[in-house]
Amino acid sequence: MALPLTSDQPDRSVEPEARAMAREFILARMGSLLALLPLGAWTAVHLWNQLAAYDSPEAWQRAVTWHSSSASTALSFIFVLVPLVWHTGWGAVRMLRSRPVVRIGWLSNVRYIVQRLSAIGLLFFLGAHLYLAWFEPRFMRGHAEYFADIAREMRFHTPTLIVYALGVLGISYHLANGLWAWSMAWGVTVSKSGLAWMERVALLLFFLFLALGWLAIYGLYRNG
Ligand code: HEM
Repeated sequence: MALPLTSDQPDRSVEPEARAMAREFILARMGSLLALLPLGAWTAVHLWNQLAAYDSPEAWQRAVTWHSSSASTALSFIFVLVPLVWHTGWGAVRMLRSRPVVRIGWLSNVRYIVQRLSAIGLLFFLGAHLYLAWFEPRFMRGHAEYFADIAREMRFHTPTLIVYALGVLGISYHLANGLWAWSMAWGVTVSKSGLAWMERVALLLFFLFLALGWLAIYGLYRNG
């Protein structure tokens, strides 16, 4: 007999395969939702905060590395890194399982491939960025990254400048094109005109992110 839905027991009237499919569906949906919220929104705020470099070193320090308490440090860590790890695992599984579809046109396939290439690039960029800008200063040197240090690296260590410029390019593409794919996967855009509009929004978002990130890099570079 089927158990009432209020029970915490699994509903045995549903076949195990159907339950597994439902579980996979929800996990896949979570992987794509977390990429947008909080990750995408947090990245926009993170890049925006870097613009404080145009004000003063103190303003940058407050905007980028300051937390009101150790609880808020831990919370923002959970808020950002857990979704990042989840989305990375979800993306890696999808990348291994899926292939481009030949019949949908070369441009869609190019975008599909660049989405995956940018994901691989971001894996390296974020690994290096998190280690050098966050983990090493905070946990090995006992303080958050100093403005003077990151600005000097940007100005005098060309590989750092290039890696940040490419990292921002990668994240801008990955987020903007990801939003377009997300809107289809979630049924936000279904009609042809809806898709065309979403393409324009994604393109605009790409240039906005790129401008924001490159301006932020320049703000640090000029203070180096
Ligand atoms: C102009 C480019 C960027 C600069 C100058 C920059 C700088 C920094 C700095 C200084 C930190 C350490 C903050 C702290 O100790 O509280 C940090 C952390 C972090 N950054 Fe960036 N960043 C940039 C771009 C990005 C991008 C494109 C991403 C992509 C998602 C990103 C993801 C992260 C993450 C996940 C953390 C760890 C945050 C935490 O857990 O509190 N950053 N960044």
